[in-house]
Amino acid sequence: MVNCEQTFMDFLLQHQEKHNRTYHFLILMNSVLNAARRIQHYYLTGALRGLLGRTGTTNVQGEPVLQLDKIANEITRHYLRASGRVIHAVSEEEKRIIPMNPEGRYFFYYDPMDGSSNVPHNLPIGFMFGTAKRNLDGPEDNHLRAGREYIAAGMFVIPTGTFTLALRDAGCWRFHIDETMSFVRPTRVVLPDSPGTWELSFNSANRDTWAPGVRQWVVDHEQRYAFRYLGALAADFHRVLTNGGMFLYPAILNHPDPKKNRPRGKLRLMYEGSVVAFMCREAGGRAIDETGTPILDVLPLDPHQRTALYAGSAALVDEIATVLRGS
Ligand code: AHG
Ligand code: MN
Ligand code: MN
Repeated sequence: MVNCEQTFMDFLLQHQEKHNRTYHFLILMNSVLNAARRIQHYYLTGALRGLLGRTGTTNVQGEPVLQLDKIANEITRHYLRASGRVIHAVSEEEKRIIPMNPEGRYFFYYDPMDGSSNVPHNLPIGFMFGTAKRNLDGPEDNHLRAGREYIAAGMFVIPTGTFTLALRDAGCWRFHIDETMSFVRPTRVVLPDSPGTWELSFNSANRDTWAPGVRQWVVDHEQRYAFRYLGALAADFHRVLTNGGMFLYPAILNHPDPKKNRPRGKLRLMYEGSVVAFMCREAGGRAIDETGTPILDVLPLDPHQRTALYAGSAALVDEIATVLRGS
């Protein structure tokens, strides 16, 4: 039987046409697909080419840079620049905002390789991004945008071959890679209402470092749901989006080594937290930070600002919000 499924690009062309949109976003997304396919290739062949180790340098966050962090960043930067549609970009791997085309139409925030601890094992990692439109009326302020201003956010899980993309007010969609490296078969992702499939996902080793209310909430709830943790936000959140439940990476407040405390959380707002929060909203869920504030409302003051993250089914996120506001 011949296999001719609807591709991501067919889907997006129809979407843009239906909503009377310009072709610029198509060009941007085409460059994202080119980057993702190439990252996927380097990751699949990484072990054989000796590319799964470290570069020996550290990034802006002081974390060791892997060869693949560098490669994935360079690939993404190349395609974004070539698209001509990006005014400036923020990458986890680059300290400063990356100026691109001054005439570009979009801001692009990305984590080229998410889940570095999985890299030496060739296990799932992510490529995550969010994009917002520049100010087209009047002078551009070049401010970093809050998640509520994103027009799209998505993630590839690599090398398993899934792509999930949320489009503003148009839902969250998932695609699977086929034999021609095209992403096909758009399927709408909606967080399930029924708690029967819900999962909790968190790094359990950190629980003694959390705020007492959060720790207690987890103790009171963890037996009710399945527990899963892959150690890559993109992969863990992929599961939560499908099965429902909650991913949480709370603030680290009581670490035995105070230097390791992270009162604002570990994950990065612009290319991790807001990306997840945007996808959550389009799938019918919520995402908040340690103060109970919706992540989508947080205006970044720094491109690499950190955030705590509680994201997933609205009922669970609302419960934890009550705990956070009370503690
Ligand atoms: P990155 O590899 O881009 O630095 O992100 C790592 C993040 C995220 O993917 C994951 O959810 C989390 O760090 C895992 O942290 P722990 O190892 O502390 O559980
Ligand atoms: Mn990451
Ligand atoms: Mn990363």
